[in-house]
Amino acid sequence: MYSITPFAGRAGDDKIHPLMCGIVGYVGPRPALGVLLDGLKRLEYRGYDSSGVVVLNGKGLQVERAPGKLSALAERLKTRPLGGSTGLGHTRWATHGGVNEANAHPHRSCDGRIAVVHNGIVENYQELRAELKGHAFTSATDTEVLAHLIEHAYARTGGKHPLKAVTAALERVRGSFALGVIFADHEDLLLAARVNCPLVLGLGEGENFLASDLSALLKYTRRILPLEENEVAKIDPSGVQIFDRELGKIRRKPMKVAWKAETALKGGYPHFMLKEIHEQQQTIAAEISGRDAALDDVRLPRRIDRVVIVACGTAWHAGLVGKVAIEETARLPVEVGTASELRYGDHPFGPGVLTIAVSQSGETADTLAAVRNAREAGSKVLAITNVKGSTLAREADQVLFMRAGLEMGVAATKTYTSQVMNLLFLAAHLGHRRGTLPAARFQALLGEARRLPGLVERVLEDTAEIRKCARKFSRGYDFMYIGRRYNLATAFEGALKMKEISYLHAEGYGAGEMKHGPLALVDDKMTCVAIAPAGRVTEKMVSNIQEIRARRGRIISVATKGDRSVRSVSDHVFEIPACEEMFSPVLAAIPLQLLAYYTATALGRDVDQPRNLAKSVTVE
Ligand code: F6R
Repeated sequence: MYSITPFAGRAGDDKIHPLMCGIVGYVGPRPALGVLLDGLKRLEYRGYDSSGVVVLNGKGLQVERAPGKLSALAERLKTRPLGGSTGLGHTRWATHGGVNEANAHPHRSCDGRIAVVHNGIVENYQELRAELKGHAFTSATDTEVLAHLIEHAYARTGGKHPLKAVTAALERVRGSFALGVIFADHEDLLLAARVNCPLVLGLGEGENFLASDLSALLKYTRRILPLEENEVAKIDPSGVQIFDRELGKIRRKPMKVAWKAETALKGGYPHFMLKEIHEQQQTIAAEISGRDAALDDVRLPRRIDRVVIVACGTAWHAGLVGKVAIEETARLPVEVGTASELRYGDHPFGPGVLTIAVSQSGETADTLAAVRNAREAGSKVLAITNVKGSTLAREADQVLFMRAGLEMGVAATKTYTSQVMNLLFLAAHLGHRRGTLPAARFQALLGEARRLPGLVERVLEDTAEIRKCARKFSRGYDFMYIGRRYNLATAFEGALKMKEISYLHAEGYGAGEMKHGPLALVDDKMTCVAIAPAGRVTEKMVSNIQEIRARRGRIISVATKGDRSVRSVSDHVFEIPACEEMFSPVLAAIPLQLLAYYTATALGRDVDQPRNLAKSVTVE
C-alpha cells in the first residue's frame, strides 16, 4: 500500500546540507566498538575518505582514526581494541581540510574530555576559531570548533550540564549539521543535535543508537525516531529524550521501519550494485502489489492546471518518463526541472500547479529547496521517496513511498525503476480520475504492470551479450546513448550510469537531435547505444540508427525480442520482452545498468563507491 503522510511541518531555512559523511552512536551493554564498526561499514557507501571512533572506558575517551577506507581503521583497531560500551563513529567525505588522520573525526576538546562527530558545515567556523583564544586546534576542519565551543560552554555550567553546554554552543553556530557528542564525565550518555542534516535515533531494549542513516541501525532495531530540525537529544541505555533548543521536552512516537537488515549485505554478489540490479524483479513486484487500490487514497488538489516535476540526476530522468506518461494519459502539461535550476530564479510554481518531487533519499538539498519554493508559491507537493522519516517525506503535502528497500550502491538502479513505476502508476491514475484515460485502457495498463516482474526476470536471465559488449567496448571509446519519447530518459540514464561507474565518456541525446550537431562526433570509434523498443517511434529510431551507421558508428541496440528492423541495423542487440510502450523504460534501463556495471568491472573500477561521488547529495 502507498503510505500517505499528511503535511507535518516545515524545516528551517534552506542552507547548504553538506553531509555525505556517516555518524553512528551506541550506548548500552554491548562492547560499543563492534556496533560502531558494523554501523560504519553500512554507512561507508556515503563518505569514504577517512573514519574514526571514540569509546568511553575507564581511561576516559579513547579515540582511533585513520585516513582511507574503513578497513584501514579496522586494521589499526586490531592491535588496539577499544573497550567500553558508549561510543561514536564517523566516516568522512572531506569538505574542510584535506584527507588525513588529523582531520578525521572524532574531534576533541583541549582536555580530551569531550569528543564530537559532525556531518555538515560550520559556516562561521573561522570567526568562532578566532574567538576561541587559548584553545589549541589540531586540525584544519570546521568541526573542531564545535568540540572547543562545547568545552567552553560546559565549563560555564560548572562542568555539570552537558545538554545545556551543547545547546549554548549551538547558539553560536551558523550552518547545517548533524552532531554526536560524548563526555568523559558522563558514562552511558550521548547527545545529538540536528539542523538541516538527517539524524535518526534507534530504540532498543536497554540500549539505544544514533545514526545519520537508518541503514546503520537495521541490524539492531526497527524502532526509529528521526530528529526534527533544531532538536537535541539525550540518549542513554534506558531511553531517549528529545528537546527543543530552549530545552523544552518534545514527545513523539517512534516509527517502525520494515526494511530488512540483510538488504545492507551483498548476499553473495560481488557488489551491491549487481545485487540491486538483480533485486529489481522483487522491487517492481513490490511496487505493483495493491498499488492501484492504494493510489485512490492519494489526496490530490481539486484543480490541477499543470504539473511540475522536480528532481536531480537519476530521479530527474525518472521525472522525464513521468512527463511523457502524464501528458499521454492525463492530458496535462508537464514541466520537468532539475531542482538545482528550479531552486533559483523565476520558478514555475503556483496554485493550480501540482509539484511532484522525486528523490530516493528524500534528503537531496536542491530538491528540498525547490520544494520549499513550490510550497511558498502555493503549489501542493506530492513527494515520491524511498525513505520514511526523510526531510522530503515530512515537508511534502502527500507522499508516495517507493518500495525499493535500502539501496547501498552509489549509482541508483533499483530505486530508478521504482521511481519510474510510481510515476507511471500516478500518470495512469491521474488519467483515470480526470476521465482522459478510458476505463478499459486503465485496466489494461494495470494488467500489463502485473506482468512486469516476470518480464524483468527474463531480462536478467541472459546477460551474455551484455558482458561481451562490456569487454569489447571498455577500451576507452566514447558512448552516445540515444532514445526518443519514453526512452529519451533511458538514454540519459544509461549514459549517466556508464560515466558514473566506468569513468568513460558517455552522452545521452535525443535520437532526432543527432543531426542537429552531435552527428559530427560519430566515426568508427564511437559506440552508439540506441534504445529502440517497439512503440510509436521505433521506425524513427531505425532511421536515426541508419544515420549513425552511415558514418561508421557502431550500434548496440536495446530492442524488443523478435524485432527484425532494429536488429538489421545493429552490431549488437540487447533484447527485452514485448510490453506496453509505457513500461518499456523499466525493462530497457536494466541492460544498460548491466552494461555500465560490466564495463566498470572490466576496467577494475570501484563500482559501489565510485570516485568523487556520494550516495546522498546533501550539499548544494
Ligand atoms: C545517480 C544517482 C544520482 C541521484 C541524485 C538524486 O546514479 O544516484 O544522480 O539520483 O543525486 O538523488 P535522490 O534521488 O536521493 O534525490
